[in-house]
Amino acid sequence: MFRGAVGGTAVTALDRFLSRDAGSFRPSAIRAFAKLINDPNVISFAGGVPNPETFPADSIAEIAARVVRERRGVALQYGPTRGLPRLTEAIASICRGRGIECSAADILVTTGSQQALDLIAHAFLDPDDVVLVELPTYIGGTASFYARSARLIGVAQDDDGIVPESLDEAAARSHPKLVYTIPNFQNPSGRLMAQERRRQVLELAERHDFLVIEDDPYGELVYVEGADTTAMKSRDSSGRVLYLGSFSKVLAPGLRCGWIVAPPGMAAKLEIAKQAADLCSGMLDQSIVDEFIAAGELPGQIAKVRDFYRGKRGILIEALAEHFAGRATWTSADGGLFSFVTFPEGVDTGAKVEEAVKRGVAYIPGAPFFVDGSGANTMRLTFAKESDDNIREGVRRLASTFQF
Ligand SMILES: Cc1ncc(COP(=O)(O)O)c(C=O)c1O
Repeated sequence: MFRGAVGGTAVTALDRFLSRDAGSFRPSAIRAFAKLINDPNVISFAGGVPNPETFPADSIAEIAARVVRERRGVALQYGPTRGLPRLTEAIASICRGRGIECSAADILVTTGSQQALDLIAHAFLDPDDVVLVELPTYIGGTASFYARSARLIGVAQDDDGIVPESLDEAAARSHPKLVYTIPNFQNPSGRLMAQERRRQVLELAERHDFLVIEDDPYGELVYVEGADTTAMKSRDSSGRVLYLGSFSKVLAPGLRCGWIVAPPGMAAKLEIAKQAADLCSGMLDQSIVDEFIAAGELPGQIAKVRDFYRGKRGILIEALAEHFAGRATWTSADGGLFSFVTFPEGVDTGAKVEEAVKRGVAYIPGAPFFVDGSGANTMRLTFAKESDDNIREGVRRLASTFQF
C-alpha cells in the first residue's frame, strides 16, 4: 500500500477500484479553511452558515416532541419520495408567492437543496458534459457537477448578475447542457441579478438549448426596500428551469429540508434518482417543517431572521466603507449572508490568511469560488456569526492585514 496526496485526498492502492466519477471528486477548499479557525480569539467572517440564534429552537422542540408522540406512524416512518403531501402543498404555495406557477405535483422535497443539486447532476449529466457557472459560484454546486465528471466553464458576472454577452459566447463555444445560477443574493458574491438579466438568460437558454438551475436559498433574506427577487422560473414558458428552494436559511439547516420545482417529466426522473439516493427525505425533519408552517409561524420567523441580519449587514458595510474606501470594492449585500470584497490585481488573499488569523480575524479567500482559477484578489465575508462590536473590530483587523 502506498500513500500520496492528490487534491488534498489520500491516495491508496485501492483507488484502482474507484469509479471514473470518484476520480473527479473535489474536496471543499473552503471547509479546509473553516477547520483552521476554531480559536475563540479569532473574529470570523469565514463561515457560511446561519447564526444559531435565528433558529426557532423552542417551537421546533415543542413540535418535535408532539409529532414524535402523536404522529409516530408518519414522523418516524418511511414516507413518500416526493415528500410529505401537506408539505408539498405548502411549498407550492410558497413558490406561487415567488411568482412561480406550480402545484404540489411539481414539487420534490429534497434532503436540503444540496441534494437537489446532486440529483440534478445525476439525472442530467454525462461525463464531459458542460455546465456553465457564474464567476464566482457556490462550491457545493460545483462539487455536485464535478462529482459527475462534468466540465465546468465560468461565465462573467457584474453587479447586475450574469453578463449576457459572456453567457452567449460561452454557450456558443461549449454547448452546455446546464447553466447554474443563484440569482438572489448569491453565495459567495451577495449579488442580486437584475430582472432584465434574468430575462436575457432565459432567452439565451432558448437560443442555445440548455437547461437552467435556479438555486434560491437566500431570496427571503432581504434587507433593503425594492429588491426584486421574483424567480426566473416565473417566466419559464418552455419548462427549462429547475428551481431549488430551501428552509435552511430561514429555519435551520439541520432540518435538511429543501425542494425542487421541475417540469413534470423531469420531476418524475428526479424522483427515481432520489429513490436510489435515500428513498425519502427525513420524515421527522419534514414533519417539523410542515407543522411549523401549518401553525402559521413561517412569516414571523422570516421577519425575525431578516431583522437579525439586517443590522449586522449594515455594520459590516459601514466598517468596510470606513477602512477600505479607495483600496477595495465590495458588494452591498442587500440580502443573503455575504459581502464579496475585491482588491486590486496582484493582491493575493489566499497568501494572507495565516497573517490575518495571527491578527485575530478570518475570512474565506475568493479563488476557490472561481472555476477558471481567477479571483486571487477577492474574499468572502459573512456578517452572520459575529456580534456587532466584533464585526467592527474584525474589519479593523482586516484593514491592518491588507495594507498597501
Ligand atoms: C447557493 C447555495 N445553494 C445550496 C446550498 C445548500 O443548502 P441546503 O442543502 O442546506 O438547503 C447552500 C448552502 O449554503 C448555498 O449557499
